[in-house]
Amino acid sequence: MAMGYSSPSWAAAAAQCAGMAFFAAAACVAALGLVLLLVRRWPWCSCHVCRAYLTGSWSKDFPNLADWYAHLLRASPTATVHVHVLGCTVTANPSNVEYMLKTNFDNFPKGPAFAALLGDLLGGGIFNVDGAAWRHQRKMASLELGSVAVRSYAYKIIAQEVEARLLSALAAAADAGDVVIDLQDVFRRFAFDTICKISFGLDPGCLEREMPMSKLAGAFDAATRLCAMRGAAASPLLWKVKRLLNMGSERELRSAIALVDELAAAMIRERRKLGVADSHDLLSRFMRASSAADGVDVDDKYLRDIVVSFLLAGRDTVSSALTTLFMLLSKNPAVAAAMRAEVAAAAGDDIPYDRLKGLHYTHAVLYENMRLFPPVQFDSKFCAGADVLPDGTYVPGGARVMYHPYAMGRMPRIWGADHDAFRPERWLTGPGGSFVPESLYRYPVFQAGLRVCLGKELAVTEMKAVAVAVVRAFDVEVVGDTGAAAGAPKFVSGLTASISGGLPVRIRRRAAPFNARGNRFRGSEEHPERRIRNQCTSYNWGPTDTDE
Ligand code: HEM
Repeated sequence: MAMGYSSPSWAAAAAQCAGMAFFAAAACVAALGLVLLLVRRWPWCSCHVCRAYLTGSWSKDFPNLADWYAHLLRASPTATVHVHVLGCTVTANPSNVEYMLKTNFDNFPKGPAFAALLGDLLGGGIFNVDGAAWRHQRKMASLELGSVAVRSYAYKIIAQEVEARLLSALAAAADAGDVVIDLQDVFRRFAFDTICKISFGLDPGCLEREMPMSKLAGAFDAATRLCAMRGAAASPLLWKVKRLLNMGSERELRSAIALVDELAAAMIRERRKLGVADSHDLLSRFMRASSAADGVDVDDKYLRDIVVSFLLAGRDTVSSALTTLFMLLSKNPAVAAAMRAEVAAAAGDDIPYDRLKGLHYTHAVLYENMRLFPPVQFDSKFCAGADVLPDGTYVPGGARVMYHPYAMGRMPRIWGADHDAFRPERWLTGPGGSFVPESLYRYPVFQAGLRVCLGKELAVTEMKAVAVAVVRAFDVEVVGDTGAAAGAPKFVSGLTASISGGLPVRIRRRAAPFNARGNRFRGSEEHPERRIRNQCTSYNWGPTDTDE
């Protein structure tokens, strides 16, 4: 009997060839990477900024690259510096920010490099597109997020998540004795559950008492981390070749995105099955709005891209801000006490959510926290055609311009000599000590101008609800003496700021936590879904900001 093609020796030879081919491909990628690294690190620019960047010597004096940029920008007379080896201009000058984000907006799109980094994960979602595709989604998304129905739905979800899950999880940690928990992880789970419910109307249940991590959250984490790694590669060519060969981190990214796709598709199917007519989650609203406009069902890929963008927008940003907030409150107990006093004076034991908007001091605390620790520390734009910024800086066409909210929050010329102090009162300069917003070009934590964050009011309401509920019910003490415990966290590089090693805390009960109506929270015997009133028909989200 002819053994021919199925003989074991042939199979072994074929496997050997495949192994050698793979090895050769891997060696080529490694060699290319090395060449690119050398080319990129070639010391053709000997200015002190490029030298410090290339040698990494900045890290001797600063915990984070962002702290070093803040130092450079403070020293620059125009508040703008160039990192020549990166082909990047970095600015903390509010006039430049206004020029890029409003006055000459069309010349500073996200651009092809950014779209490529996140394209596989975000597809054509609002975060990743420019021009007509962006304009269309922006219009639709701002209509939905501005509607009373969505606001009131989101408010109910937030109330449920705070009462039923977050306070329970923290109470369990407090009652477990002298345990240390990672508060950053708790807030990430909380924010993921909340944004999934708001976006899809479905519950991943990450913050259940036993805290299982949902598959979607895990895949989403991996995908965002690996996309951020692309941005840190020596050259985009490197990750593009790895993607072509399906190797290493790109292989991992591909399977994480495949899982996100699969789970998003299942959620879209589930939503169709459940019906969209009476649902107020964003996915149902987008499905209704799109089919009403075109008379046909929109394709699932389009819906998937929109919703994945919302997950990215609403999860890590909120958890990042909450984490640094409790880091600061642990070091500043007088501020936490003032928040409690404000709530007690405004509402006594009864704190319905629609009263949150009147809490100006708490509002100022949130803004002051994000001044020092913005969840999105920098934002890059692509300069489409050569341009001159208002401070006189020339930017060649095709270059990158980065504005830097983290550095801007630490500029004495914007915030005064006490720029590094955590002082919420700096925002309370209105009549009767009311909150007065700063121009968003000086405080671009939510971006500003034409692409300003669409979830700003929602995010602030969510953070306020958490901050008030947690400070009233618990004392949160950050454990340790250095890093976050000393108020100088080291951040992991990524799309949003997260603290390296998390935020280890001890939780102690102050009193039984309060639910949204001010009643003492007694745990699972009260089911919040039955209790929560819908008070939102006239709900307004609180002190407003101005772009001008
Ligand atoms: C503390 C919380 C938040 C912060 C600091 C924040 C900050 C930002 C920033 C800096 C951008 C501009 C990003 C870029 O263009 O590269 C942005 C855009 C956006 N944000 Fe937020 N965000 C927060 C929460 C949210 C939430 C909860 C949602 C939605 C539910 C949301 C929805 C959006 C959307 C849709 C955009 C895209 C706007 C556009 O490109 O036209 N954000 N946000």
